[in-house]
Amino acid sequence: MKEYQIALYPGDGIGPEVTDQAVRVLDAAAKKTGGFALRFTSFPWGANYFAEHGRVMAADFLEVLRPFEAMFLGAVGWPEKIPDHITLTPLIRIRQTFDQYACVRPARLFPGVRSPLRSDAPIDMVVVRENSEGEYIDNGGRFKVGRPEEFAVQTALHTRRGIERILKFSFELARTRRSRLTMITKSNAQKYGYVLWDEILEEMRGQFPDVTTDKQHIDAAALNFVRRPEHFDVVVASNLFGDILTDLSAGIIGGMGLAPSANLNPERQFPSLFEPVHGSAPDIAGKGIANPIAAILGAAMMLDWIGEKESAARIDQAVERTLKDGARTPDLGGRLSTSQMTDATIQNL
Ligand code: NAI
Ligand code: MG
Repeated sequence: MKEYQIALYPGDGIGPEVTDQAVRVLDAAAKKTGGFALRFTSFPWGANYFAEHGRVMAADFLEVLRPFEAMFLGAVGWPEKIPDHITLTPLIRIRQTFDQYACVRPARLFPGVRSPLRSDAPIDMVVVRENSEGEYIDNGGRFKVGRPEEFAVQTALHTRRGIERILKFSFELARTRRSRLTMITKSNAQKYGYVLWDEILEEMRGQFPDVTTDKQHIDAAALNFVRRPEHFDVVVASNLFGDILTDLSAGIIGGMGLAPSANLNPERQFPSLFEPVHGSAPDIAGKGIANPIAAILGAAMMLDWIGEKESAARIDQAVERTLKDGARTPDLGGRLSTSQMTDATIQNL
């Protein structure tokens, strides 16, 4: 029997609520499929840990996490207790230290779920967000603080190596799907970083003649996600643009409660991290009404990544059937609680 060591970081707000449900589904799927088991180690990091220790995660969190097969994160952040940039900093360090440069965020309109868009066009895209550099590196400073001439500098970093590897990953992903790749930049207004993206796409296209490519600026892409979402297959974007676009892609498939995310180290030198796209949702935390599906789909992505593909597919199909049957939490207009929604999913495994 294979055993996988999984680190859990349930976090804050609805993070622990949805993590518990994802674990229930993972265990049930492992039992159904057989042949493997997941061993979870849960870490009490986040806002409460901060109140007690003055830090969001243990000082040696990177060393603690390194030996695990994979990590699962609920969500972190509690703006009333800690400024968000403090809570989120260790998370960005995890992504960068473990070189989780490919953030993969599928957005699929499930049968029976209503998109807020008026059209019924099928939506089935994956946004690949560059996750290791770009606009989110810690590079800049505040100067003349508090004076009228105060200024802040925050500089993005786009490396050839970083762009090449995320484009390669995206091309290869497109090949496993509908062979269409759309790259999002703002190279008309930012002529250094994003023009480098444009040039590298041009250079690489020849290696993937079977993949159709196009380029869109972020503003046009925002419109097109709404106007003709069915056009998109694999979308690749820089860190910031991928972040923004994946709230939009989640929105058009029915909301944050349905959108999973994988932060992958494709070379598998380090553990990868799986999570829902959503945050800690303080507005609904503690009520037992959070939609667990985003976390459950994130858990399925984790199984797929560690090699338990049959179980992963089983969970995806169970979610699809559950939604088709009409099971709904309040964010989707229904009345099921978080755990009832999970019960329905487990029944469909
Ligand atoms: P959010 O994603 O937590 O919530 C946005 C809206 O979507 C809220 O109305 C919320 O109720 C709803 N929502 C989110 N997940 C849901 C679910 N599973 N079921 C039903 N409704 C759901 O984003 P927000 O409010 O901007 O941020 C809250 C906190 O989360 C902040 O501290 C933020 O920094 C943090 N955050 C953390 C992330 C992470 O841990 N990876 C990602 C995004 C935000
Ligand atoms: Mg985001």
